[in-house]
Amino acid sequence: MPLDPVSTLMLEEAGSLPGRVLVVDDPDGALVRAVADTGAQVRAWNDDVREENGVPLEARLTGSIADWAPDLVLWRLPRSLGALEDYAQTLANELPAHARVLAGGRIKHMTPGQNTVLGRSFADVSASLGRQKSRVLRASSPLPGPQRWPQRRYLPEVGLTAVAHGAVFATNRLDPGTHLLLRTLARVASEPEGSIRQTRGTALDLGCGSGLIAAWLASVGWVTTATDVSRQALLSAQLTAHANHTEVALRRADGLAGVAPDSFDLIASNPPFHRGAAKDSAPAFAMIAAAKTVLRPGGELWLVFNSHLPYLPALRRHVGPTNIEAQDRSFIVTRSLKEPTG
Ligand SMILES: C[S@@+](CC[C@H](N)C(=O)[O-])C[C@H]1O[C@@H](n2cnc3c(N)ncnc32)[C@H](O)[C@@H]1O
Repeated sequence: MPLDPVSTLMLEEAGSLPGRVLVVDDPDGALVRAVADTGAQVRAWNDDVREENGVPLEARLTGSIADWAPDLVLWRLPRSLGALEDYAQTLANELPAHARVLAGGRIKHMTPGQNTVLGRSFADVSASLGRQKSRVLRASSPLPGPQRWPQRRYLPEVGLTAVAHGAVFATNRLDPGTHLLLRTLARVASEPEGSIRQTRGTALDLGCGSGLIAAWLASVGWVTTATDVSRQALLSAQLTAHANHTEVALRRADGLAGVAPDSFDLIASNPPFHRGAAKDSAPAFAMIAAAKTVLRPGGELWLVFNSHLPYLPALRRHVGPTNIEAQDRSFIVTRSLKEPTG
């Protein structure tokens, strides 16, 4: 697989590679392979399990960064400053003092704020010249210090505490779509005829992020699993569950891959609508297509999504009868039933 311009620039900036290289969030495994081809020892750390699957098993970092003690880190810059700060503080606390960091990104996604954030964790920060619409930030002389992440916040609107790492969707805030979904679930649960109230079986928060939906489900009695592609999301979901005095099981996977048929009575999700910087509805469509199989007969899929997204026909086709349970200016909440005979 050819190297993209960001990875190419990072390798050129690195010059001759030292003994141990850590590659962080390589999207396709190509940079990890290119480093290995030079003879350097390489380990990869990926937040997203789909990216991790592109890395050979023997190249995956299994222990801590401090244990591996890399001389050089090649890091695909995250877009959010919270994620950048969270990772930068971890690196500054765990790297050997002599280690260098080269953090590359597409110029259109980079801001001067990134230099400022990096400068709080590394004494020396500078930027490369841009090439092929890409740039590399160089950071060295790590400044170990207190970790500001994960961060917690009480959300009075839903009576829950969110705890989140910096790379997590909405971090510890309440996304307005998630708010509408939780309000609607709570309303239906309080209705005498609401099936949500009558059955308290197994529930899945699909694409859990900080795990607020999972924490709510567990708090009202569901045996709950939280699943996400992101390592940071699952760490956060666990912290959020504990902050709300609940227990949830955790699963790091792409959508519903590997979930046994007829496993859940309820799936609730604010599904992903982008991957990295790019809008992408494919994971949400894949989740809808797979939901019926993993729901028990009589089970329900609850989704919240932006009203303009064309999920309704897919829900009706793939899952079953689908009602709109709530709608505001931006979002729609749907409830799809896997018919008892389905
Ligand atoms: C819109 S966010 C919702 C997060 C959280 N449930 C909330 O309501 O704040 C979607 C989440 O789906 C996760 N995600 C993206 N693609 C996924 C996939 N293929 N399988 C599972 N989770 C995925 C993202 O990491 C993100 O946490």
